[in-house]
Amino acid sequence: MKIILLGAPGSGKGTMAQKLTNELGIPQISTGDIFRKNLKEETPLGLQIKDIVSGGGLVPDEITIEIVKNRLAEADCANGFILDGFPRSLVQAEALDKFQDIDCAVNLDVSNDVIVARLSGRRFCPDCNGTFHVSTLSDANVCPVCGGKLVIRQDDREETVLERLRIYGETTFPLIDYYARQGKLVTVDGSGGIEVVYRRILEVLPR
Ligand code: AP5
Ligand code: MG
Repeated sequence: MKIILLGAPGSGKGTMAQKLTNELGIPQISTGDIFRKNLKEETPLGLQIKDIVSGGGLVPDEITIEIVKNRLAEADCANGFILDGFPRSLVQAEALDKFQDIDCAVNLDVSNDVIVARLSGRRFCPDCNGTFHVSTLSDANVCPVCGGKLVIRQDDREETVLERLRIYGETTFPLIDYYARQGKLVTVDGSGGIEVVYRRILEVLPR
């Protein structure tokens, strides 16, 4: 199955993509994770996008589209994939339509209050890409999956979160209508606990 996870920053795309990946056996393709890996390794791409990502802006469409196009051509995507954080603009969505036939776009609907609460407590593991919330961690510094050192994402500072939400509303929100017009949109209430939201997603995925 070829699934897109749509939703504002902090709506739970990464958390749900990780669970879906384990259950469905298809890879999670997170453009945010790809960019953070390049930042960490200080690759030429990482250096080019450093200020954009840490400021909450969007990496240029042509760079992002090329990365996703190449990634989706790899063998592990042959039976499907979960796109987490792509597409994020109409230009990206239209480009994707030219090289992939998507089955379903799941829109995680969450209020801004919930988003701010989630992002202010988020911890990220740069070693295994795990995402957690301090409220569920016994030690806020140690990854419960791989033992790596947890960090706070650069772009989770309050002013950057507000900028990400602004850009989401302006550039990404119109994709909800784009996939609705294609008859591929399902909207899921993204508030509530992780297991509750996850079950809602499983119920609406096409069989
Ligand atoms: P990206 O990494 O994609 O960031 P984002 O879209 O802002 O989304 P987040 O990762 O912040 O949130 P999420 O929805 O994954 O929520 P999560 O599961 O972590 O992108 C980062 C940057 O890269 C962008 O700003 C941009 O610069 C660049 N970029 C990426 N893609 C791009 C593209 N296509 N084009 C251009 N630029 C691009 O959950 C959040 C927190 O809530 C966690 O702590 C989690 O544990 C907790 N949580 C999740 N679900 C629940 C629940 N149901 N109940 C309680 N807690 C929950
Ligand atoms: Mg994410």
